[in-house]
Amino acid sequence: MIETRGLTKHFKDVRAVDGIDLSVRRGELVALLGPNGAGKSTTLRMLTTLIPPTAGTATVAGLDVVKKQREVRQRIGYIGQGNGAGHSQRGRDELISQGRAYGMSVRSARTRAAELTESLGLGDVIDRTVSTLSGGQRRRLDIAMGLIHEPDILFLDEPSTGLDPQNRANLQDHILRLRARHETTIVLTTHYLDEADSMAERVIVVDHGRIIADDTPERLKAKHVGDKITLGFATDEDAARAARKQGGEAYGRELQITTEQAPRQVLEIVDDLRADGLTPTEVEVTRPTLDDVFLTLTGRSLREGAA
Ligand SMILES: Nc1ncnc2c1ncn2[C@@H]1O[C@H](COP(=O)(O)OP(=O)(O)O)[C@@H](O)[C@H]1O
Ligand SMILES: [Mg+2]
Repeated sequence: MIETRGLTKHFKDVRAVDGIDLSVRRGELVALLGPNGAGKSTTLRMLTTLIPPTAGTATVAGLDVVKKQREVRQRIGYIGQGNGAGHSQRGRDELISQGRAYGMSVRSARTRAAELTESLGLGDVIDRTVSTLSGGQRRRLDIAMGLIHEPDILFLDEPSTGLDPQNRANLQDHILRLRARHETTIVLTTHYLDEADSMAERVIVVDHGRIIADDTPERLKAKHVGDKITLGFATDEDAARAARKQGGEAYGRELQITTEQAPRQVLEIVDDLRADGLTPTEVEVTRPTLDDVFLTLTGRSLREGAA
């Protein structure tokens, strides 16, 4: 559904996007994860034909984003960062005018609006004036606006930024449900690690306009960081002996082992040590977060970047 080769955007001397090769299959839910200024929005703006690339190529639904702008726009929905429906109209009217803007008849726009109201749980907002909606309600209406013309691909730029945790969880639910129901290909950007982790099958980590990692959250964590097993012993001596048998690093009475599947391996390790008369007094398993992945790859924390 999306293919880019060396996609690049420079603003004067700022290399906002610096040679991105990207490939997204039909039905995938992909998160672009990176700190502020990484080039996420600029990438989406090129893919949605809003700004032309400085260099490189991109096709969306098989259509070149520079040569086939109008056709690309018919096939995609785009919810920009913090954009939104106007203020004075009711939700339903906003939705129908959006459908009209995409060339739908009033009748099919109405039918589609009713469908989306149901599938996105918009019953509570559809008849209210847009200016009275909460942030979360407004965001759900924005998403319906992006979907009114049944696009094959939906681009969401930081859909949950600024929402409280409850509304964020709600919105994530809606996005997942929408995907299950309409099989839409979804590319979203976020700087919330937990969001990328829990929602996306595939996380593309972006930093300084480049892709620095692209894989499932599980594989990114296993490959770049690994799980950590920490075993406590009665004495330094025991910890050192355990290190000689099992590998890892002993620090005082603790032994630390880095591994790929700690929850399973820890059982075998403890059994082996016991058989050698070394019984740990404490066991802790630590699994990495995507922030640990980002830290390993860049030496910086994504949390600091986002703040
Ligand atoms: N219209 C613009 N003019 C000049 N610089 C821009 C423009 N848009 C974005 N940038 C710069 O490009 C870089 C990437 O920005 P952006 O794509 O918005 O990052 P993100 O969405 O990951 O936070 C930043 O350094 C930003 O300041
Ligand atoms: Mg952005």
